[in-house]
Amino acid sequence: MTVTDTFRRPLKDLRISVTDRCNYRCNYCMPFDEYVWIEKDAILTFEEIVRVASVVADLGVEKIRITGGEPLVRRDLEALVQSLAAIEKIRDLSLTTNASLLAGKARALRAAGLDRINVSLDTLRKDRFLKLTRRGDLDQVLAGVEAARVAGFVPIKLNTVVIRDVNDDEILDLVDYCREHGFEQRFIEYMDVGNANNWSMERTVPKQRILETIDARYPVEPVGRPDGRAPAERYRFKDGSGFVGIVGSVTEPFCGSCSRGRMTADGRLVTCLFSESGFDLRPLIRGGASNERLAETIARIWAGRTDRYSETRWEAIASGRPMPAGRKIEMITLGG
Ligand code: GTP
Ligand code: 5AD
Ligand code: SF4
Ligand code: SF4
Repeated sequence: MTVTDTFRRPLKDLRISVTDRCNYRCNYCMPFDEYVWIEKDAILTFEEIVRVASVVADLGVEKIRITGGEPLVRRDLEALVQSLAAIEKIRDLSLTTNASLLAGKARALRAAGLDRINVSLDTLRKDRFLKLTRRGDLDQVLAGVEAARVAGFVPIKLNTVVIRDVNDDEILDLVDYCREHGFEQRFIEYMDVGNANNWSMERTVPKQRILETIDARYPVEPVGRPDGRAPAERYRFKDGSGFVGIVGSVTEPFCGSCSRGRMTADGRLVTCLFSESGFDLRPLIRGGASNERLAETIARIWAGRTDRYSETRWEAIASGRPMPAGRKIEMITLGG
């Protein structure tokens, strides 16, 4: 079965946030002063998450990504992985993590059936890393990534949010690191997610510039987006030493092929990364609704979806009109 929205985009991927807590405090992500944490009782149990995942799998979802906050701060995450991996229609089960706790978890996650890991890593400089994350230890992260490699994860992707005058001088260092270690480096245009990150277009380094920087040192050729709809556009190094990806959601928005739903840790279904609110599924999940009723509700929400925020934003920037306004859901609640 396939459900499609008002632009005929199918629901194919679900990003499930398992917690809004994180052990880091990245400057660009954290709204700490005014943020109201999700209450413990409201956080879905693993059983509840797996139930929703099975329901959406029957609606056509093929890929699930576990996110946070930082997903590995949730205890026994491997138990959730094992249950999600057992859902037959889910052909790709992945995790986005800051890798700080990965060294002790990689083997168990692999054994539980996790297919892939993406690691958020914005710098390879220890002092800069501490400054950006406000508490992170780069060595722990690099040990986590290495543990993932030893555990057999392929590919391992490193996600770098490029911010002008913060880490844009490290593009080639990161590329070198990934080429040497067999990882896939991905650069992400800095976006205006959440409300607290002081975003401005001046701080975003355009995808085209990132690409030129890489291509001048290591010539690349485009190979498109995985499945034709992933956020990152991939490029192959012409010397055969792997791939690099760039997520250009500001200057080259990809809403037209967006098949991603998101669910917050307290069971709100959110249809866009820039949404101001979600649809609370918890009353249904906890109120005795049948799977059919849950499926109908999710299908109805998706069918009514009109989101195309990044396209609207780019139209506004290009024409000098004001940016779309509104109070967005925070990044730590949505998991990217
Ligand atoms: P792969 O399955 O490995 O391609 O992962 P992914 O790129 O879909 O997920 P990941 O968590 O690694 O996200 C990489 C970046 O893309 C993050 O900055 C996300 O916030 C961003 N991203 C993911 N999906 C969307 C989306 O639908 N819209 C926008 N604007 N950004 C997205
Ligand atoms: N712009 C772009 N990407 C961001 N991420 C967090 N905040 C932003 C932002 N403002 C990234 C994280 C992580 C992914 C889920 O989203 O670095 O890799
Ligand atoms: Fe934590 Fe990721 Fe936000 Fe950094 S960007 S504070 S690692 S959730
Ligand atoms: Fe999808 Fe919203 Fe991102 Fe556009 S901005 S690609 S609609 S999540």
